[in-house]
Amino acid sequence: MKNYKLNNEMTKKIALITGITGQDGTYLTKLLLSKGYEVHGMQRRTSRLNNERLDTIYQEAFMANSGLFIHFGDLSDAGILIKLLQQIQPDEVYHLAAMSHVQVSFDQPEYTADINATGTLRLLEAIKIAGLCQKTKFYQASTSELFGNAAKSPQGESTPFHPTSPYAISKLFAYWMTTNYRNSYGLFACNGILFNHESPLRDESFVTRKITMAVAKIGLGRQKTLYLGNLNAKRDWGHAEDYVEAMWLMLQKNKPDDYVIATGASTSVREFVEKSFDIIGIKLQFEGTGTAEKGYCLSSKNSLYPVKKNSLLVAIDPQFYRPTDIEWLIGDTTKAKEELQWEARTSVDSLVHEMVISDIQSVLNQINTVK
Ligand code: NAP
Ligand code: GDD
Repeated sequence: MKNYKLNNEMTKKIALITGITGQDGTYLTKLLLSKGYEVHGMQRRTSRLNNERLDTIYQEAFMANSGLFIHFGDLSDAGILIKLLQQIQPDEVYHLAAMSHVQVSFDQPEYTADINATGTLRLLEAIKIAGLCQKTKFYQASTSELFGNAAKSPQGESTPFHPTSPYAISKLFAYWMTTNYRNSYGLFACNGILFNHESPLRDESFVTRKITMAVAKIGLGRQKTLYLGNLNAKRDWGHAEDYVEAMWLMLQKNKPDDYVIATGASTSVREFVEKSFDIIGIKLQFEGTGTAEKGYCLSSKNSLYPVKKNSLLVAIDPQFYRPTDIEWLIGDTTKAKEELQWEARTSVDSLVHEMVISDIQSVLNQINTVK
C-alpha cells in the first residue's frame, strides 16, 4: 500500500470512513468529497461486490480526480486497522461500520458484540498504537437504541441508557470506550447519538425501505401483500443526508462532545405504512388487533395499477416480532441546535415521498430490464 500522505497537498484534510459501503457511508463520502477532503474508505471483502451504493460516487470521483481510495479491511482484524491508521494518518475517522440490524443481533449476539463492541475498541487502540491520539478526530456512530424504553420523552444527552437488545448493549460498550479514550488519552472523540435515519439507499431489511419497496411493487402489480411485525412501534425518522452533516459538524468543533441527532417528531410503523400507500393513491383501513390485525384497501384513486377495494394489503407475520422491542423513541435536539447550529431539514412526509418515488422508479427499471 502506498503512503498516501506523501502524495497529497498538505492543506487537504484526510478522512477515513469505516462502513463506507453502507447507507451513511455513501452520503458521508459524497459530503466530504464536496468539501474537498481526500476520502479513504474501509470495505470488507464479501463473495460478491458490495459497493453498489458507492458506484456512482466512485466513478464521479475518479473522473474528477478528487481522491477517493478504498481499502479492504474488517473490524474483526486488529492488524489491518493498525496498518490503515499508520499509513493513512487521517485527520478525521468516521466509525460507521457495524452489524447494524437490531433483530439480527438477537440471532447473532456474539458476532454483534465482536464487531460493534470489540471492533470499536480495536479501532480506538489502532489510533493509539499509531500515535494519533493528539492528531486524529474520532466520530462514533452511537444510537438512540441506547435509550431503550426510556422513562422520559423526548430523550436527550442526559437521559439514562436502558439498552434492550444485543445490538444496543454492544453499542453501549462502544459509547463508553469512546468516552474513555477521550478522557484517558485526550483523543478528540464524539458520540453522535443518532435516531433512525432513512433514505432511498436504506437496506430493505429495515422497516421503512421494506414498506416503500412493497408499496412500489403493489402499486405496479408486482406484489399483493406486505407482511410486517410490530405496527405500534414509534420512531423518530429523519433523512440520512441531513444526519451525516451533523457527524461532520461535531468534528469541526473546538471541543469534543456527545450530541443527540433527531427530528423531534415521532411516527408509528402503521402511520408510515399509511403515508406510503397514500403516495400511490391508496387509502387503507386497519381491522383487528395483535397478530390478527390486517390492512385492507378502502379506496384506490389514481393508483398506478388497479387495486380492488377490500384487497388485503397489510398483514402481520410474527417472525418479524423481536424478543424485546422499543415502543417509542423521540429525540430532543436542543444541544445540537445550540452548539452545532444543526437542525433536521426533511420531514417524515418528504422522506416517505422521496423513498416511494425512488422505489417506483427502481421497480420500473427492473421491469424494463426484464422486457
Ligand atoms: P448500514 O447501511 O448497515 O452499513 C453498515 C456498514 O458497516 C456497511 O458498510 C457494512 O459493510 C459495514 N460492516 C459491517 N460489518 C463489518 C465488519 N465486520 N467490518 C467492516 N465493515 C463492516 O448502516 P447505516 O445505516 O449506514 O449506519 C451506519 C452506522 O450508524 C452503524 O454503525 C449503525 O449501527 C449506526 N446507526 C445507524 C442509524 C440509522 O438509523 N441508520 C441510527 C443510529 C446509529 P457491508 O456493505 O459489507 O455490509
Ligand atoms: N426491520 C423490520 N422489519 N422492522 C419491523 C418490521 C419488519 O418487518 N415490522 C415492524 N418493525 C418494527 C421493529 O420491530 C422496530 O420497532 C421498528 O419497526 C424499526 O425497525 P428497523 O427499521 O429494523 O430499525 P430499528 O429501529 O430496529 O434500528 C435502526 O435504528 C437504530 C436507531 O434507533 C437501525 O438503523 C439501527 O442500526 C439504529 O441504531
